[in-house]
Amino acid sequence: MEKKTDLTEPLQDLPEKVEYIIKHHDGDRLSKLQSICELLKRDIPNYDWVGFYMVDPAAERELVLGPFAGAPTEHTRIPFGKGICGQAAESLQTFVVEDVNMESNYLACSLDVKSEIVVPVMKGDQFAGELDIDSHTRSGVGEGDRKVLEQLCKIIAPLF
Ligand code: SME
Repeated sequence: MEKKTDLTEPLQDLPEKVEYIIKHHDGDRLSKLQSICELLKRDIPNYDWVGFYMVDPAAERELVLGPFAGAPTEHTRIPFGKGICGQAAESLQTFVVEDVNMESNYLACSLDVKSEIVVPVMKGDQFAGELDIDSHTRSGVGEGDRKVLEQLCKIIAPLF
């Protein structure tokens, strides 16, 4: 019999796995967010960098880097409006960039990054931060990821 591989399966399994981490892992909210970054990076082959930016309550309209999995980035603080993360912070909408070379307001973390998705995390009507995922493949993240990642950000919101 022909073996079928459903590439969307690991993506659809994520909400359940994230809920498991939130309910059953020991540790504080930051260590749970760290485990969630590592899970996404490990399970989804196209996800090369997965991280959370948080709204810094001590700063004026600025994001600060939280837990992440992947190469260290120089962009540890991002003002609202700057780059893809900063634009998502202003619009409060998911921002999908299938080819980062086509985006002029973009902060490059590494020349290897080819596509990116940023999903806002809302606590009620308050913007709390965002999930940022980079891929080294053009369209390695895209519209196909949006629905599950938006669902994940709702599940994760209590950790912010
Ligand atoms: N590329 C992002 C900056 C953050 S790094 O991807 C980790 C941006 O343009 O906002």
